[in-house]
Amino acid sequence: MTERPRDIDGNPVTPGLPIAMLAEITHRCPLACPYCSNPVELTRVGLELPATDWARAFRQAADLGVLQVHISGGEPGVRRDLADIVASAREAGLYVNLITSGIGITRERLQDLDRAGVDHVQLSLQGIRPDMADRISGHPGSWNKKMAFAEWVTEIGFPLTINAVVHRQNMDRLPDMIQLAETLDARRIEVATVQFHGWANLNRKALMPTREQAAFARQIVNDARLRLRGRMVIDYVPADHHAIYPKACMGGWATTGLNIAPDGSVLPCHAAQTIPWMTFDNIRDRSLRDIWMQSDAFNAFRGTEWMPEPCQSCDRKTVDFGGCRCQAMALAGNARATDPVCSKSPLHAGLVAAAEVESQGDTDEMVYRRLKKGR
Ligand code: SF4
Ligand code: FES
Repeated sequence: MTERPRDIDGNPVTPGLPIAMLAEITHRCPLACPYCSNPVELTRVGLELPATDWARAFRQAADLGVLQVHISGGEPGVRRDLADIVASAREAGLYVNLITSGIGITRERLQDLDRAGVDHVQLSLQGIRPDMADRISGHPGSWNKKMAFAEWVTEIGFPLTINAVVHRQNMDRLPDMIQLAETLDARRIEVATVQFHGWANLNRKALMPTREQAAFARQIVNDARLRLRGRMVIDYVPADHHAIYPKACMGGWATTGLNIAPDGSVLPCHAAQTIPWMTFDNIRDRSLRDIWMQSDAFNAFRGTEWMPEPCQSCDRKTVDFGGCRCQAMALAGNARATDPVCSKSPLHAGLVAAAEVESQGDTDEMVYRRLKKGR
């Protein structure tokens, strides 16, 4: 039996209900982005949850209050039963967002996915020119395939969001990326600065933006938001190593969202498996409601009682919730620590100094994300 989460006055905290779920249906992917948010230890194909289990998970999610599911990967298109998985999410009453690289899904298949119930498509772009896009994705020819895919998306009539992950090697081209999203008729663009855990943490020297780039990106986003008001929404994840306060990761641990990994592990966030002492229940063995309400992993950082100083006595503790637990794990070696990107963290000065050095690096060599051989 797990300890109930509490606030700093010792009062029990009752969990809210989730509204969104990320369904990572596979870790297989034709691309090899060096900042992939998947774990460094990727799940083998033989361990992937079958479509029938996904259907059960979607019903349980809807019953719990989830309104939308983001079907993602890896590349969800590598699953031949993707249309069945989509149809079962729709049948459960969920709004279905397909997050894809656009590689490997033909126009005919996209039409099938439309019939199966995809409501919205989110397409990742790695650059604004073929050379950059193909090099960052590790996939020659990716750019042309993505541009064709984006055309089909709008022809078929899906609302489109562009996912643009930015870092030192492409941040200067952010204005062109926003322009490209406009040209592709996107309704939304997510401009997300690389988050340095997992694969990206292996590539800090090649990807860390400079302080000047971070300021430039903020200005570009602010200007574009004004210019495009009413036409295109811009979501923005800033370069937090150059910020004063951390982001409220996941809007707070286990408050509004959850993830299911390809093998059925139910996670409070996509990187939670980087916390070595944490164990995760599997949707094959336990109901989603039970896991959400009762499990140790979901209750670990609910409420405010768990927080260390300086968070305990900080007036932002219910604004950013002490920052990102996985980033605290990666940078401080302790998931319970104040996120070191916070200027009040004792580790902040060292982190900023290291980021300055990394951002001045002249290497563009990267460790690409790959499944180990035989997986
Ligand atoms: Fe957030 Fe903790 Fe920093 Fe305060 S001290 S701003 S709560 S991370
Ligand atoms: Fe896990 Fe931020 S990615 S809490």
